[in-house]
Amino acid sequence: MEKDPLKIGIIGLGTVGLGVIDFLTKNIETITLRAGREIRISGICAKRKNKKRKIDLSKLKWISDPLALSNDDETDVIVELIGGEDGTAKSIIEKALLNNKHVVTANKALIAHHGHYLALLAEEQQVSLSFEAAVAGGIPIVKILRESLSGNEVSRVYGVINGTCNYILTQMENDQQDYSKIFKQAQDLGFVEKDPSLDVGGIDSAHKISILASLAFGSRINFDNVLIKGIENISLLDIKNANAMGYRIKLLGLANKSKAGISQEVEPCLVPRESLFGKLDGGTNMVMVEGNFVEQTHYIGPGAGAGPTASSIISDLIDIARGNISTTFGQKASQLKISHHVTEEFISSFYLRFLLTDKPGTLAQLAGILGKYTISINRMRQLHHQDENAPVLIVTHPTKKTLLKSAIDEISKLEICKSEPVYIKIEDL
Ligand SMILES: NC(=O)c1ccc[n+]([C@@H]2O[C@H](COP(=O)([O-])OP(=O)(O)OC[C@H]3O[C@@H](n4cnc5c(N)ncnc54)[C@H](OP(=O)(O)O)[C@@H]3O)[C@@H](O)[C@H]2O)c1
Repeated sequence: MEKDPLKIGIIGLGTVGLGVIDFLTKNIETITLRAGREIRISGICAKRKNKKRKIDLSKLKWISDPLALSNDDETDVIVELIGGEDGTAKSIIEKALLNNKHVVTANKALIAHHGHYLALLAEEQQVSLSFEAAVAGGIPIVKILRESLSGNEVSRVYGVINGTCNYILTQMENDQQDYSKIFKQAQDLGFVEKDPSLDVGGIDSAHKISILASLAFGSRINFDNVLIKGIENISLLDIKNANAMGYRIKLLGLANKSKAGISQEVEPCLVPRESLFGKLDGGTNMVMVEGNFVEQTHYIGPGAGAGPTASSIISDLIDIARGNISTTFGQKASQLKISHHVTEEFISSFYLRFLLTDKPGTLAQLAGILGKYTISINRMRQLHHQDENAPVLIVTHPTKKTLLKSAIDEISKLEICKSEPVYIKIEDL
């Protein structure tokens, strides 16, 4: 006997919402065969009914109140594509789960902040809360961690997971232009979120790395413990210096698990130009996962955009249509433990840039303070003078960031130090 269609309500008809409708329309045959039944749109909703949209929606049922769709008996799945960590999106999802409806969302901010609570609710109601599209767009990294690598002890998950930042850093290098000029260009192209700090401030990457860490380590999601540094202070000079040393600068999200606990951070890093991360350009994302049996695996693909994001949403919907309802974070939400968070305990090398007064004894003072904090110098270069001052570049041997920060703090207070010192971690990935 033919199975009943899976009826979905789509809330949010922007880039992703329209992408999902377009995908469902164009690939209907494949989707129906793979899902084992039809996936049918029972209702659509957005803020403005009369807004001109790129595709014809006239044959679909318009529902003006988003919460009404969550209450609708004719709908099995709510696809939330509004965005925002609280407010309407959260109310819609809560209501849908309480009404025993499955939920599919691309909303990383909401999952990063409320994922644990919502996962408990979904499991209590025996429905699915799926968010493949929330991390790395078209790369199926959620499924990989939740299912394909699920037997491994994962020690590390890291990646370039914000396409906008990677685009800006790539363009600064290609066009040899300052951050402000390329940031404006990215804004004009519509690549930057309304609140730019989500992208360039590293918050979006932090949302994503906290989700990946929970899936990878079987720990309770913990966004508040992500150390976040964005790309706003990356200068063209640092990009050029990194290039001259065989590196490129990438914004990385990094989550590590050791016996001491879990660390999560987002920060711009120097990566070897010839490494996989070093070759990553524009909006492309890449995630690497290290598991104790699988060893190192990596996944590359488009990190955003209508098609890739819709692809992830459709795969969640096909799973639900097939009856594959898995736990939200790969194991029962009630078993996810709050992990001990370790901050900045891992060691790495650093690129340092100082602007120092050009007079005898200056370098000795600098080296003295680094030595006091047991930081040893691997390479040092003095660049062309700027008036009375000399830019000095240093690459350190591996050291703890806590020690480095204390040294930088002390150096920045010296009279010889003429501008705020720059330090960027080096990840020899
Ligand atoms: N864009 C991407 O490439 C991408 C990639 C991965 C994940 N995501 C995530 O996907 C979600 C949607 O992103 P998007 O880029 O598609 O956003 P968007 O283009 O800004 O679209 C948002 C949609 O939500 C509707 N909306 C806003 N507030 C509403 C409310 N109170 N009630 C009903 N509808 C409301 C808007 O209605 P109107 O159209 O009438 O204004 C609009 O259709 C976000 O969580 C985002 O982080 C996006």
